[in-house]
Amino acid sequence: MGSEKVKAYYNSIAADYDHSRFENSYGTFIDKAERKLLKRWLKSNKNVLDLGCGTGRFLDLASQGSDFSDEMLRIAGKKYPEKLLHHAAGSSIPAENDSLDAVFSMHVFMHLSQSDIQDIVNEVYRVLKPGGTFIFDFPSSKRRNLVKYKANGWHAATSFDKPAVLKLLASKFEIEKSRGILVVPIHRLPNFIRFIFQPADWLLSHVGFKWYSSYIILKCRKK
Ligand SMILES: C[S@@+](CC[C@H](N)C(=O)[O-])C[C@H]1O[C@@H](n2cnc3c(N)ncnc32)[C@H](O)[C@@H]1O
Repeated sequence: MGSEKVKAYYNSIAADYDHSRFENSYGTFIDKAERKLLKRWLKSNKNVLDLGCGTGRFLDLASQGSDFSDEMLRIAGKKYPEKLLHHAAGSSIPAENDSLDAVFSMHVFMHLSQSDIQDIVNEVYRVLKPGGTFIFDFPSSKRRNLVKYKANGWHAATSFDKPAVLKLLASKFEIEKSRGILVVPIHRLPNFIRFIFQPADWLLSHVGFKWYSSYIILKCRKK
């Protein structure tokens, strides 16, 4: 899987990233759902890092961003010249111990090996204040098993089930909240009937089907 491959890939697609990922039905849908959740969960946190910020999709919700792709970061810098942006790997955050109120990392872990993810979790633990918030997402293994998903190379190849996530967080973080996104593939429906299925999706993801969602977003608290 190799993080150099991930970096090279994002450098090569940076110019087209916003358009190809978020200007379609799926992208628009998940962007809206994720933004709503991040806003709610970040609340009034001030010193917030967007780890793997890419082209800055959520940088308006953070005070600083970091990414190891210089091309993705260059675009983020054009959009948000006032933000502090670090060209850095997630396992090496240029911040003091116990200094940040919150860190979020969207659509990053799915690309990385278990050991790279563990390094990032340990690093986030180092830089967060005690009680600080860590939000991240990952594809759900249960869903993937159900739909017999086959990974195509490293891209989005990594998924987790609940025991694996608990092992990853171990004694460092406790899960405060979780949300499943897309139990029902609403994004495939025409816009004008989505509102009928959205309550069903919300309900299913709250009554035992959460881990059958396409992916899960967690809000964790540093112990
Ligand atoms: C799918 S993009 C997501 C960008 C942004 N978070 C979003 O949701 O639009 C993944 C980003 O994570 C960055 N990334 C992946 N692994 C990383 C790592 N180990 N350290 C820093 N950045 C990483 C990539 O360069 C890329 O910009």
